[in-house]
Amino acid sequence: MKHPVTLRVNGVDYPVEVEGHQSLLSAVRDVLGLTGSKEGCDDSECGACMMLLGDDPVNACSYLALQAAGREITTIEGLQDGEELAPLQRAFLEEGGVQCGFCTPGMLISATALLRTNDDPSEDDVRIALSGNLCRCTGYDGIVRAVRKVAAGTPAG
Ligand code: FES
Ligand code: FES
Repeated sequence: MKHPVTLRVNGVDYPVEVEGHQSLLSAVRDVLGLTGSKEGCDDSECGACMMLLGDDPVNACSYLALQAAGREITTIEGLQDGEELAPLQRAFLEEGGVQCGFCTPGMLISATALLRTNDDPSEDDVRIALSGNLCRCTGYDGIVRAVRKVAAGTPAG
């Protein structure tokens, strides 16, 4: 059975209908067509689906769309400012932190959440904040450098 709900995503209100059991990830990707957030494990393990609810990062694969009604949802598409990349996105590019299209959106969301609550994170702080974002292909060093570079300079976007 479908339920009417308004999802506020990246500052835009979307009146939609979702199933009671439908995840926020499915609603955003399949109903709204915002496909930047990825489905990896679909089981709260990999972080590819991460979105912000307010300032809190959540695994959207394991969060009901109905529960997100009335919350400010931010996806990877909402990090940049118009055509301009957010400082954190630029830093990822500059420091070699951009990895594949599956893990990078979630990494950016987790890093954004960190910088909203900690403007001077240590290397350990960054690694702990990213501990829910898995990648077995490359390394985390470029990402850690990028997050600390933004913290040392301009505020996160
Ligand atoms: S797809 Fe949500 S944590 Fe992996
Ligand atoms: S999962 Fe993206 S580079 Fe490994």
